[in-house]
Amino acid sequence: MNLPDKVTIVEVGPRDGLQNEKQVVPLDAKVKLIESLADSGLTIVEAGSFVSPKWVPQMADSADVFAQLSRNDTVTYTALTPNMRGFESALASKVDEVAVFGAASESFSMKNINCSIEESLERFSPVIEAAKASNLKVRGYVSCVLGCPYEGEIAPQKVAQVAARLVEKGCYEISLGDTIGVGTPLKTQKMLQAVMEQVPVDKLAVHFHDTYGQALANILVAIQMGIKVVDSAVAGLGGCPYAKGASGNVATEDVLYMLHGMGIETGVDLDKVTRAGQQIMAELGRQSQSKVATALAS
Ligand code: HMG
Ligand code: MG
Repeated sequence: MNLPDKVTIVEVGPRDGLQNEKQVVPLDAKVKLIESLADSGLTIVEAGSFVSPKWVPQMADSADVFAQLSRNDTVTYTALTPNMRGFESALASKVDEVAVFGAASESFSMKNINCSIEESLERFSPVIEAAKASNLKVRGYVSCVLGCPYEGEIAPQKVAQVAARLVEKGCYEISLGDTIGVGTPLKTQKMLQAVMEQVPVDKLAVHFHDTYGQALANILVAIQMGIKVVDSAVAGLGGCPYAKGASGNVATEDVLYMLHGMGIETGVDLDKVTRAGQQIMAELGRQSQSKVATALAS
């Protein structure tokens, strides 16, 4: 099997996870979660989102989260910034890196950010330029890479096209999102092949939601194809409020267990991430979605 020696985990739980919570998560609990994750050896933590509070009320306190956070020098704290307004707020909060988020589906783009794919790319340009001027790196997300809640099948070519445009505009990395977790391994392989024809593999990351339990299998395909950056969320938190049926992200604990079990280094301490997951799930009053965390607790 062709496997990498090392994989970087991008922890998206504090953003992708908590943005989808029905209940209000107290600021202190968010800050504690991010600090515990940062203490586990993770090097990238997506800590918030500077979007419209009318659209995603759960992320309305991201500026407060960044203000309260005790930062760890070894960690890059990132946030979503869909437009210049969001970017300026992120800059004022001294985020280390920002991300723009587009989609390979027109309908999802409209539902999620209220504009077409083309308009979104135009809107991202000034954000990317401004970030460059402030020496901040910009990550680009492409959603619905393996299916859309509104349009169904999405052509791999369309994913490749949007990913390539984001790279052209200056994103250093493209995270390919299976937003509703419908992908299966061969579909993942075909989609990645199409994208890799247009974007070098070292600029690609994968972001699987685990709605249908396919995420680990899909990640295994992606890393065998040379991808070395994987997004995941502690305790399998997550989902997008504008993607019907989107359940949690693949759990960080489960990804770590699989990678470490294959001798692949991540630099992340599974026990510490598991404890961070236990803390936040106790706060939310629910069971963890991570099979590994559940097994370790029994
Ligand atoms: P819009 O309504 O078209 O924008 O929304 P607008 O410019 O007309 O502004 C509307 C209102 O929002 C105005 O306030 C603005 O000031 C305010 P009002 O005048 O009505 O009081 N506003 C803002 N406030 C704070 N921060 C901002 C901001 N921008 C405007 N940055 C917009 C367009 C993009 C803002 C909106 O659609 C939005 O916020 N969408 C966010 C949706 C979202 O966050 N979705 C979840 C993240 S994506 C995801 O989860 C997928 C991912 O995980 C990958 C995967 O799984 O596939 C990344
Ligand atoms: Mg997501």
